[in-house]
Parts: sequence; C-alpha cells; structure tokens
Amino acid sequence: MCGIVGYVGPRQAALIVLGGLKKLEYRGYDSAGVAVLHANGGIEVERAVGKLSNLQERLYQKPLVGTIGIGHTRWATHGGVTEFNAHPHVGRNGRVAVVHNGIIENYAELRQEMAAEGISFNSETDTEVAAHLVDGYLAGGADLLTAVQRTLPAIQGASAFVFLSPQEPESLVVARLGNAGGIVIGIGDGEMFVASDIPAILEYTRNVIFLENRQMARVTRAGVAIFTFEGKPVQARVHTIPWDPVSAEKGPYRHFMQKEISEQPRAITDTIRGRVDFHRGRVVLDSVPLTPSEAQKLDRVIIAACGSSYHAGLVGKFMLETLARVPVEVDYGSEFRYRNPLITPTTALLAITQSGETVDTLAAMEAGREYGAKLWSIVNVIGSQAHRLADGYILMQAGLEIGVATTKAFTASLVDLYLLALHLGQLRETLPAEVLRRAVNDLARLPDLVGRVSEPLPIYDELAEIFFKREHFLFLGRGLNYPVALEGALKLKEISYIHAEGYPAGEMKHGPIALIDEVMPVVTVAPRDNVYDKMISQMEQVKARNGTVIGLLQEGDEIARSKADYVLEVPAAPQFLAPVLNIIPLQWLAYAMAVRRGADVDQPRNLAKSVTVE
Ligand code: AGP
Repeated sequence: MCGIVGYVGPRQAALIVLGGLKKLEYRGYDSAGVAVLHANGGIEVERAVGKLSNLQERLYQKPLVGTIGIGHTRWATHGGVTEFNAHPHVGRNGRVAVVHNGIIENYAELRQEMAAEGISFNSETDTEVAAHLVDGYLAGGADLLTAVQRTLPAIQGASAFVFLSPQEPESLVVARLGNAGGIVIGIGDGEMFVASDIPAILEYTRNVIFLENRQMARVTRAGVAIFTFEGKPVQARVHTIPWDPVSAEKGPYRHFMQKEISEQPRAITDTIRGRVDFHRGRVVLDSVPLTPSEAQKLDRVIIAACGSSYHAGLVGKFMLETLARVPVEVDYGSEFRYRNPLITPTTALLAITQSGETVDTLAAMEAGREYGAKLWSIVNVIGSQAHRLADGYILMQAGLEIGVATTKAFTASLVDLYLLALHLGQLRETLPAEVLRRAVNDLARLPDLVGRVSEPLPIYDELAEIFFKREHFLFLGRGLNYPVALEGALKLKEISYIHAEGYPAGEMKHGPIALIDEVMPVVTVAPRDNVYDKMISQMEQVKARNGTVIGLLQEGDEIARSKADYVLEVPAAPQFLAPVLNIIPLQWLAYAMAVRRGADVDQPRNLAKSVTVE
C-alpha cells in the first residue's frame, strides 16, 4: 500500500510533496520519488530507493523547481525495490507523469500489446502501462482529463492515480477505480492538495473531499471539478477533519508506537465520549441505527477483519454472545470472501478496521452487501471506505494512529465492541437494568485503569535485556485472554521479527507442549478470572518442563507470582474490559524488545499501515 501526494498552487511543489510523503511513510517505504513540472515545460523527476531521507538528500542536492508536482512512497508489489521501479513513472513521449496506488491486474497483457507496438518500458511495474496509455491519448490531442478518461476502461483491478502533464501545467488529474487506497482532495486557499491519506495534508487544510470509486477529477489551484468515469459532473461533499496537525507529530516520544501506547487512556476516554448516559445507565449509539424489532430479529453477527482487528473480533464474540445473546462468527476478511456465507437480511456483517481501507475487509463488506446483510463497521479513519460503505458505524475516535503496529486503535475497538454489545442488549432486552447499569459504570472506571498500565515501566526493558536474542516466544491465554495472547504474539513478531505464536492454553497438551524447553519464553495471560485455576496449572506444566514463564498477572496475586519466573502486573478489571488492560503490558514488552533489537519500530520491514492490495 503506497503513499501518494500532489500539489498545485503558488508555492514550490517539491517541498510540500516531500513533507506530505513524510507523513505517509508509514504506508510503504521501499522507495520514493517526486515529479514536478518545470517552468521550462518539462517534467523533472527525482527518485530514490530506501527511506524517504534518501530522496530528501537527492532533492537537497538537486532541487526541483515548479509549483505543481506529485510524489509517491512505494510498497513494492510488481517489480523489485529498485530506482527504476520507483514512482513517478513518465509516459513514452514525456507528456505525462503518474503516481499510483493499487494493482493493474491486466498489466502483463497491456505491456505485451504495447511492446508489440514498439513501446519500450523503463520499469517492471504495472503502473508504467498507465503512463504510456495516457501519453498516447495526449499525443492524439486529448486534454489530460479526457486522456485519463479514455485510459481507464483498459485498466482492471483497484487503482488510484494522480497524473500531471506539461500540456496542462495548471492541472492535476486524479482517478479512483475500485477499493484501492483512497484519494483525498484537500481544499486550500488558492492552492489544492491530493493525497492517499489525510495526514499528508492536515497541516495545510482540514477541508477535504473523498473521491469515490469510479470518480475522477481535475484539480487546479482554483479548486476541483469531479466527474464520473462516464464524464457526468459530481457535486461532492466537503468534510472537515477534526484531527489537529500536532497529532501527526511524535512530540517528545522516540517512536509513534510509544506515543500511541501512552495515549490509550485518552483514546479510551474519547471512544466512550458521547456514547454513554451514565446518569440513566445506558449506552447511546445513534450511529448504529436499529429498531428494537430489527434488533430482536437479528439472527447472527458475522465479524470480518484482519490482523489485530481480527483479534479484537474474537473478544467481541464473547461480548456480543453474552451481553446481547446473538450468535457471532468471526472470520478473517481474506477468508470470508471465499466462503459461501449463509447470510440473510437479518444478519449483520461487522467490519473492524482501523484504516477503513483494508482491501480484504472491504471485500467482505461488499460480499455482505451482495447477500443483503446489514453492514456495520468499527473504524478509526473518518471518510474511509469502511466508514462510508456501512449502514451503521462506530468511529473509534482514537486519533491518528501512525505506528504500523496498532495499539490505541486496537484497545479502542475493544471498547467499541463492548458499547455495541450493550447497545444490542438494550434493544433485544437481554440485559436486566442492574446488569446494564453495572456494565456502564465499569466503563466509567476504565480510563483510570488503563492509565495505570500505560506507562513504560523498567520491567519491560529488563525483560528485553534478558530475552532480546531469543528467536521464539509462546503466548498462552484462555477464554477472553486467548485473543490477548494472539495479539501479544502479533505485536512481538511484527516489530521485533521474533517468531511468536499465540495459542489457546488448553491446546498445549495437544501438541505445543512439545515445544517447551529452557530457551523459548512462555508468556501466560493469567489474571484472576473464571479460568484462573487452569492457567495456574498451565504455568506449572511449563515450569515442570524447565520452561521459562513470564506471567501477566493481577496485582498482588502472590500465588501466581510464585509460579512465574518474571511478572507483568495489571489491576483487577471487569471481565469483558480486562482484555483492554491485559494487552497493554504486552504492547510495551513488544516495543521494548524491538527497540533492544534495533528494529524499525514504526516502519517494520515488509509491512504497511493499511493493506489495500490483495
Ligand atoms: C496490527 O498491528 C497490524 N499492523 C495489522 O495486523 C493490522 O491490524 C491489519 O492489517 C488490519 O488493519 P485494519 O485494522 O486497518 O484493517
């Protein structure tokens, strides 16, 4: 998933584009490049492999001069990580430059057809075919918008493009096909911005338009004109983004992940805000419109999500089935789309997605739509597809999350699942008043409880110092803490590159216990809950085989402490909210391990913040 930025206005484009790319580097960072229209009428391009700082150095050495430009940070799909594969790509006659996010699925046949016409290629990318197609139409006398419009029917697959051409030195043309990462158009004062994501333009404007699927636009410094691919003008809504520019900065923190772990008390407070009537002891979720009768007819909730969001869904299953008494299935977005799901109009498909742009999760939503399900989403990014596609949604309100490893959005999504469970429980009348009031009151205590584990204690660095060279970790949990074990393992593996596996503790005797030895640390999530005794015996089984136990235990639990070699502590918490607390020490542990190993915490290798390609 790549980062795209474009600018047209009175200022030097290269600096603005580069600054925007820096805010998007978390989206992909194999290579980067900028193209600017020079006053002499030519397209000037500068590209560099590796981190954005390499491109920045090039641009300092050789500044690009011009007031209209485009840029790109690449997460390689087609074609290796090389300079000639870096975007922007230029058409065969130099009439157009393009940056692209997504995949042109039929690029091989297009390349073949063009090669047969004698067109030579400078890269291995799919993107370059779009540059040559548009270039050809421009050569035939079409204007840039028309040249793009004529090109799009040949393109298969989800893509987002930004084009610029010396033939129209005042215009950028953008187009969005399918569910590829979005295109945000930022409205400035006498200047305009385009980007694949809001952070790139937040310091210049909060007024944005989201380009919809099968829409294109001509953007000039005076404004934007939007059309369907068929050329029909579109009147788009302008959104005002509430995020402040500061939230996109690290501030005093060493990494965004460190900042975002620390921000969880605030994120939890914000995700609860406005959704609980503490006086009446009820949840108020107007963004998930449902009548009592519709709620009572609900026969199933299918949760579709990926990665950490999938783990949140596993916790949500417990909440929804217990509090709202509705059957729940949880499925990976990438798997759900290949099932023949048994969906009826009384089924709800709930997508959980921080970015709102994960293509596998969006595909599950589309499938749900085809079968007539109600579409709900729990999503962090305002205006993202999962936000706009849904019939009902809960915005995580966790604020901008830059670190590739999700933290505050994950815990916010757990709270949102809890709010949804209570909302459905109210409508389905499955919750006696006193149970509901207690559940609501538990939410009031949550931000303080989260605050008590949101500080980086010395224990995390101490454990990192002991274990940072280990190559394997096992995380065990039961019931509500099995998803916590999965998430703890994912956090460790994705930022420290250590092989870590989360497992249901009860499954140990069915195989994994053969793995136990003196080398592989075993993290056991064992707060004093309804499966505590079984977790204690689990710890004993590991110790009996000379294993090393890192126990995530409740404060003051001396019995469990005696079974563990090392202890991470959490305060006692209400049953369904305990996972919100229990995951945080595991986030800190993963963070400390990655830092000790010198890994790139905010931009782990091969990863991107939102996976908008399949
Ligand atoms: C989480 O730390 C990972 N970066 C990844 O698993 C992520 O949760 C997954 O890609 C889903 O992203 P989404 O929530 O934006 O859909």
